[in-house]
Amino acid sequence: MGSRIAVFGTGYLGATHAACMAELGHEVIGVDVDESKLAKLAAGEAPFFEPGLDEVLQANIDAGRLNFTSSYAEAAEFADIHFIGVATPQRRGEFAADVNFVDSVVATLAPLLTRPSVIFGKSTVPVGTAARLGAMARELSSLGDAVEVAWNPEFLREGFAVKDTLHPDRIVLGVDVMTPGRAEEAAREVYADILAEGVPFLVTDRETAELVKTAANAFLATKISFINAMAEVCEAAGADVSELADAIGYDARIGRRFLNAGIGFGGGCLPKDIRAFMARAGELGANQALTFLREVDSINMRRRTRMMEMTREVAGGSLIGARVAVLGAAFKPDSDDIRDSPALNIAGQIQLQGASVTVYDPKAIENSRTLFPTLGYAADVREACDGADITLVLTEWEEFRRLEPAYLDSIVRQRRIIDGRNCLDQAKWRGAGWEYRGVGRR
Ligand code: UDX
Repeated sequence: MGSRIAVFGTGYLGATHAACMAELGHEVIGVDVDESKLAKLAAGEAPFFEPGLDEVLQANIDAGRLNFTSSYAEAAEFADIHFIGVATPQRRGEFAADVNFVDSVVATLAPLLTRPSVIFGKSTVPVGTAARLGAMARELSSLGDAVEVAWNPEFLREGFAVKDTLHPDRIVLGVDVMTPGRAEEAAREVYADILAEGVPFLVTDRETAELVKTAANAFLATKISFINAMAEVCEAAGADVSELADAIGYDARIGRRFLNAGIGFGGGCLPKDIRAFMARAGELGANQALTFLREVDSINMRRRTRMMEMTREVAGGSLIGARVAVLGAAFKPDSDDIRDSPALNIAGQIQLQGASVTVYDPKAIENSRTLFPTLGYAADVREACDGADITLVLTEWEEFRRLEPAYLDSIVRQRRIIDGRNCLDQAKWRGAGWEYRGVGRR
């Protein structure tokens, strides 16, 4: 018999978690305030593109284990294990995270609880949030200490969300060490099948658990900015950053993953998480500890300007009147997510320099058009490249990696390609008579 679980928030994190908990055999109710999202989910369709998620949704809806509602009262009545998976965006005009959505889940849910319950937070929050919410839940619920708040950070990557949720590298749980309750036991029940596979389960205090998530994202961001800084040096020295990454990556202490130089990181997590981390460290009086993340952020943002400048160089010094094809809009492949997407940022900068820009992406066109309605959009690669003076590859979709120069030869006006993700075979493009430029490449 599975547990009865409610998941609050049905974005990337919440929808995936809800579907995967049902897949593990639990009875799950997904809760959101957005009725249009709920309607889509109830029809077995994720409100965003994530490989494999629709299938898991549909199978578990059909099996009767997965339902959706906008009613907190219904969720409180149904479940005794609650997961918070709402967004914690960057506050407007500040580095800090906005935790209002997380707060409001607890504020709304706690008074409605009628049975001893565990609330597991999964959202990425500033350290100290879980303890604060724990006190708030106890105060707002008539059950007092029988309502616990524990933190169980999520490490899923978009594009691999289902796999990362069902087969994570590790499960981290932060509990109230002063008054330990049922949280660990509840987590062991929920994740029983995963733990049976031998996945490491780390139980710690809530503060450490919150920090594990921000530290992991800060490390990943630093790794990417490190290799992008090396790309800058390689460009200045006439060296090749891809070969450098291969060579240092063989050192097991360094590792080759997340050492791909290019236009840098974007998305709904890394950029805002490192900023929120700096802001929180400042509040705690440890601001010096994370000043290096400012540099990580600037190296990253510099990639975008650099890519615009490289395009301008290739155009002969001016982008006025140039036709630029941009292949890729999503912040990474296998996603339709364009939050803080380097690709779209660059497309916008190039357009502001006077070029006419046409963007194509296999999944992210609809979202892009809403956010950047003034850019041109195409239905496929050839339409985007029609008459192009320069072609840019800014998201490493498989479709772009596999492009053959001959496919575009007669379409473009000039055979010039810039590989913002170092994902193309430069010998092939050069061999076919194209001018090829990569990032930090000879
Ligand atoms: C990230 C973390 O990986 C994940 O653990 C956390 O839960 C949420 O944030 P995600 O935002 O899905 O996941 O994307 P990720 O795969 O980490 O890529 C982030 C950005 O870094 C992308 O824009 C990607 O293109 C870029 N990147 C990644 C590089 O530029 N170079 C690399 O080597 C790797």
